[in-house]
Amino acid sequence: MTASTPDVVREARVVAGPRPVADYLPATDPVHVHCRQPRQARVPSRAVGAGLGYHHAMDLGLKDKVAIVTGSSRGLGFAAARALAGEGCRVCLCARSAERLQQAAEEVAERAGSDTRVLAVVADVTTPAGIADVVERTVDAFGGLDVLVSNVAQARGGGLLETGDDDWQEAFDQTLLPSVRAARLAVPHMKRRGGGAIVITASIYGRESGGRMTYNAMKAGQISLAKALAQQLAPSGIRVNSICPGSILFEGGSWWKRQQENPVWIADFVKRELPFGRFGTPEEVGDVVAFLCSPRASWVSGAAVVIDGCQGRAF
Ligand SMILES: NC(=O)c1ccc[n+]([C@@H]2O[C@H](COP(=O)([O-])OP(=O)(O)OC[C@H]3O[C@@H](n4cnc5c(N)ncnc54)[C@H](OP(=O)(O)O)[C@@H]3O)[C@@H](O)[C@H]2O)c1
Repeated sequence: MTASTPDVVREARVVAGPRPVADYLPATDPVHVHCRQPRQARVPSRAVGAGLGYHHAMDLGLKDKVAIVTGSSRGLGFAAARALAGEGCRVCLCARSAERLQQAAEEVAERAGSDTRVLAVVADVTTPAGIADVVERTVDAFGGLDVLVSNVAQARGGGLLETGDDDWQEAFDQTLLPSVRAARLAVPHMKRRGGGAIVITASIYGRESGGRMTYNAMKAGQISLAKALAQQLAPSGIRVNSICPGSILFEGGSWWKRQQENPVWIADFVKRELPFGRFGTPEEVGDVVAFLCSPRASWVSGAAVVIDGCQGRAF
């Protein structure tokens, strides 16, 4: 997409000054309906709400917004990118490995209805140059930025005595610091638009004990960061929330790998830990992310939104 396309021209008008107050209020016009698969086709039969019949009356008001989802060639990030594209956003996806990213971008473009509405950037977003490239190229391509979903994480190590400073440093560099850097780069662009929305992917293990010690600590840090940013950025019309997914299964993901290695242990885990008797799906997380990024969530900021089928023990 070039700067002369109608899409970018439309955005340029928005950049010219603060958006009217009406833009932040929940949309009242339910007419805008996007082409997408019926939702019931994507929800497993045992899912909550299955059989209730989803409909499309709720326009999230995301049409033509510009979104970045970091770590989006598979899993939760990919599902968030797809959900945002389905709601009319122009979306930048990024990952380190080009091949899977290209395939993901094609699938998201299909949902968006056009490949000009999707940008794929190969980058390591845990480096300052990588995330700067993602933000710059998104703004160049789409004329601004409204939504950031900060989604990458890596935290290794074991117990206290086996986990050295290098493991702790890596967990910080790969999980908490990328969320800080991405927000720092995104916020000036959002301020230029008169507002925006940030979602940081944390975990139920940011709210209660569980997972690796390093992961537990970094995820708690991300929830805390989202709250601090929410309070700082509210006067600029920017909402910031964290999401706290429980165990989510998808092919190639961490739970899937464990299931391949030890199906008996996983079956027992599901019985013991997952009250609905199944894992969550990336789509069940992506849809909540799209809602939180939308003006329909205009009074939700600073929240840690749990998406776990009541897996977690915390209130
Ligand atoms: N899965 C769960 O059950 C679960 C539960 C709670 C919270 N979460 C959180 O959800 C987030 C995503 O998890 P997931 O399970 O979907 O992850 P995943 O399978 O590890 O996928 C991560 C995605 O991010 C990309 N990525 C990883 N490191 C990157 C980097 N440095 N720069 C750019 N892209 C990078 C990966 O592609 P490349 O490898 O090609 O870069 C991939 O597209 C994480 O924050 C995780 O902690 C997951």
